[in-house]
Amino acid sequence: MKICMLGAGYVGLVSAACFADFGWDVICVDNNAERVADLERGRMPIYEPGLDDLIERNVKAGRIRFTIELEGAVKQSELVLLAVGTPMRRGSGYADLSYIFEAVKDIAPHLQDGAVITTKSTVPVGTSREIERRLRELRPDIDFAVCSNPEFLREGSAIRDFMFPDRVLVGCDSERGKEVMEALYKPLSLRSAPVMFVERESAELAKYAANAFLAMKVSFINEIADLCEKVDADVQQVADAIGADKRIGPKFLHAGPGYGGSCFPKDVSALIRTAREAHAPVTLVEQVDRVNNERKISMASRIQEAAGGELRDKTVAVLGVTFKPNTDDMREAPSLTILPMLQDRGAAIRAYDPEASKDAEEQLPGVVWCENALSACEGADVLLVLTEWNEFRALNLSQLKEAMRGDVLVDLRNVYSSAGAEAAGFRYSCVGRGR
Ligand code: NAD
Ligand code: UGA
Repeated sequence: MKICMLGAGYVGLVSAACFADFGWDVICVDNNAERVADLERGRMPIYEPGLDDLIERNVKAGRIRFTIELEGAVKQSELVLLAVGTPMRRGSGYADLSYIFEAVKDIAPHLQDGAVITTKSTVPVGTSREIERRLRELRPDIDFAVCSNPEFLREGSAIRDFMFPDRVLVGCDSERGKEVMEALYKPLSLRSAPVMFVERESAELAKYAANAFLAMKVSFINEIADLCEKVDADVQQVADAIGADKRIGPKFLHAGPGYGGSCFPKDVSALIRTAREAHAPVTLVEQVDRVNNERKISMASRIQEAAGGELRDKTVAVLGVTFKPNTDDMREAPSLTILPMLQDRGAAIRAYDPEASKDAEEQLPGVVWCENALSACEGADVLLVLTEWNEFRALNLSQLKEAMRGDVLVDLRNVYSSAGAEAAGFRYSCVGRGR
């Protein structure tokens, strides 16, 4: 099958590479010429573990190509997948569909008869229907089908998530769409991955509902963590105990500074807007959004308190600024809320992150960027762990403490044990441990 993937971002690039690895003939189009040039030179525009090798292998095998030339790519493809961004519209909180509709306008003149157009992007319920309406207007001369195939991969484990999905979800209302999407995912269904065919509206809404539910789980355990601190309980023990119940499940019960990322915040916000417009408000989800925003803000006071109540003229060494480990993505990272607040209160910031993108430097002005954890700690009063990169787990805490001026360790990801941190000479505080 010949596939055209529009958008070479976190989802487009990973999905395109995985489809190529299944044996499909994939051409990946992005309108960012610099990004395409990088890819053509074998340079990855994003950090995602394993992606460089996967792409190199499939480029060599001639199964994947990158281009900015849309026309030829669409003309030769029976399936066009849309994986362009759907960011939050600043101010309104709705999903910004301008990239989607721009892409639809761009592909329309080149679609071949029988083409299937499928959204991989996360789009509000009703978008497939609207895409179809627009395409019918632009191309009354051809038959085509529009499907919805929301993606559930996580950054940092994207290839594994794509290759071994809990389910593949396809929203479809035509035989042609079903036939092509079934063929596309045959390599996964042969491996027993459930491929679920549902109404397009159900697929679109299920994607938002899944992200909102996971965001709710994280916010729930964050609030339980606050309670644990007041009543001498340990949030990890509580999470393990409730997670052992299969109806609850152990995942997404790790307390921290609040969720971030390119999707939870924007998708929660977009779902709230969709639901209000449909006169069926999701009040629980509205609270999740509020609780998470307040949590990120409250972390600054928590750090200030741990530092003895004053941040003026203090230096905070920060480990990790990305929204989670194993990605370079800074979108809605808690660091973007917390670090400027610490600076406003008079603190100087020295930070180290193994992969933070160039954006980090632009988005966090005034931060001194360091080569490693030890150099970040030099002369610092407070050590702050914001992202749980694996390489922070085995750090020699005594050595870090030696390099510092102060002795405060604020671990917002519960990476260390209090015994270990205290043995290294730190005054240790973490999340949700009352003792
Ligand atoms: P991204 O910003 O990393 O990538 C989008 C890419 O599309 C960019 O490279 C951009 O240059 C390109 N693009 C924009 N308009 C284009 C056009 N008209 N023609 C060709 N290329 C164009 O975005 P992302 O993180 O990959 O997210 C894409 C979609 O997938 C979003 O709807 C998101 O909600 C959803 N999603 C993302 C993830 C994730 O982990 N990032 C997971 C599941 C779903
Ligand atoms: C999330 C979903 O997990 C994916 O299924 C979905 O496809 C994707 O959004 C999307 O729609 O883009 P992602 O944002 O890559 O994936 O990362 P997650 O692992 O979900 O983490 C999101 C945020 O929640 C991070 O800031 C993370 O630190 C936080 N989190 C997660 C916690 O604080 N505790 C947890 O237990 C889990």
